[in-house]
Amino acid sequence: MNSPQSIYESLGQEKIKLLVNHFYKNVEKTQDLRKLYPEDLAPAEERLFLFLIHVFGGPHTYLELRGHPMLRKRHFQWPIDGAMRNSWLNCMLTAIDQITMETEVKEAIQSYFVKAANHMINQ
Ligand code: HEM
Repeated sequence: MNSPQSIYESLGQEKIKLLVNHFYKNVEKTQDLRKLYPEDLAPAEERLFLFLIHVFGGPHTYLELRGHPMLRKRHFQWPIDGAMRNSWLNCMLTAIDQITMETEVKEAIQSYFVKAANHMINQ
């Protein structure tokens, strides 16, 4: 797994969808994190799904619908400290473990999410 560009092909769209679905089920069970999200999680789930397809090397529908991600800036509206980052990451790493995938792909996405979550800390 030399490039994140190939994750989309290795994982496939259906598993990315499943990953995001498991992630939001985990968010539902994580109180401190859940309170940051809108009541209806379905549109949020769709946004994360399209974003991940884009960064993992698939179609760029996210850009067409939402523009440049500017994720750190978009996240300034929520206080994200180390504990909140851990809650988010825990939901994502658990979701990854809930899906069967090659070790190489797994390690690549785990490392991507750890870096991305660290980058989102703003407190
Ligand atoms: C570190 C802790 C994080 C917290 C507490 C957090 C929280 C949130 C919340 C509350 C939303 C609003 C949900 C919505 O209506 O779309 C959101 C949106 C979003 N988050 Fe995070 N997030 C975190 C990390 C990340 C990371 C690491 C990524 C990417 C790898 C990410 C990607 C996104 C995306 C793509 C959106 C939708 C942006 C848009 O198009 O408006 N988040 N996040």
